[in-house]
Amino acid sequence: MTEFEQLVRSRRSIRGFSDQSVAPEQLMRIFELAQQAPSNCNTQPWQVWVASGKECDALRQAFYECASSGQASNPDFEFKLPFENEYRTRQMDCARALYGLLGIERGDKLARNQAMLQNYRFFEAPHVAFIGMPKQFALNSAMDVGIYIQTLMLAMQSEGVSSCAQGALAYYPDLVRRAFNVEDDMGILVGISFGFEQVSHPANRTRTVRAPLAESVKFIG
Ligand SMILES: Cc1cc2nc3c(=O)[nH]c(=O)nc-3n(C[C@H](O)[C@H](O)[C@H](O)COP(=O)(O)O)c2cc1C
Repeated sequence: MTEFEQLVRSRRSIRGFSDQSVAPEQLMRIFELAQQAPSNCNTQPWQVWVASGKECDALRQAFYECASSGQASNPDFEFKLPFENEYRTRQMDCARALYGLLGIERGDKLARNQAMLQNYRFFEAPHVAFIGMPKQFALNSAMDVGIYIQTLMLAMQSEGVSSCAQGALAYYPDLVRRAFNVEDDMGILVGISFGFEQVSHPANRTRTVRAPLAESVKFIG
């Protein structure tokens, strides 16, 4: 296996972290490397805000309070839900893999809700990054941000740092704008909780599979 294959195959979403922080110089190396992501016309539309330590804890508290009190979410960009057909099946398989390991039955709405709320506690990670772009930008730039986040997660993985991308963290963008003093015309697309894996956490035994190649890729010629 090449080092690259090993890197790609070993990255998984981690949802239980130790409280050990990533050293500032390691953080800089990771974010410097992710900055190499390609983008349309090299526009580099991503804007990234990273919180650590007390600032991360304050955001964790604010997100959890909003979500657990049932405050209506107000994402900056449209979410197209629910998923249907094979996309729905994959979504359900993914939820089953995670909730099964946490010992949560499908019908146990209370336990599922508690587990879902862990998103807003950043799965107790010591760091969280929010990634956004100007609100007036469209799908083509969101694609660049997607490329950036995979580059970032692989940069983390190459440094032994684990992560979980979280669309859920786009639900309360005003909390991010307030914490980082961000202008109103900047939108939030996704958050990434990151740090070192707590290996004993049951959620981290989650394994997802991918569709057979023929379901996603067609070759001609
Ligand atoms: C853009 C994006 C948003 C995601 N949002 C969430 C989320 O809100 N909560 C969560 O627990 N996982 C989230 N995930 C993680 C996915 O569930 C995970 O990537 C997928 O199940 C594949 O598993 P793997 O990352 O372990 O390979 C997200 C992943 C991506 C790429």
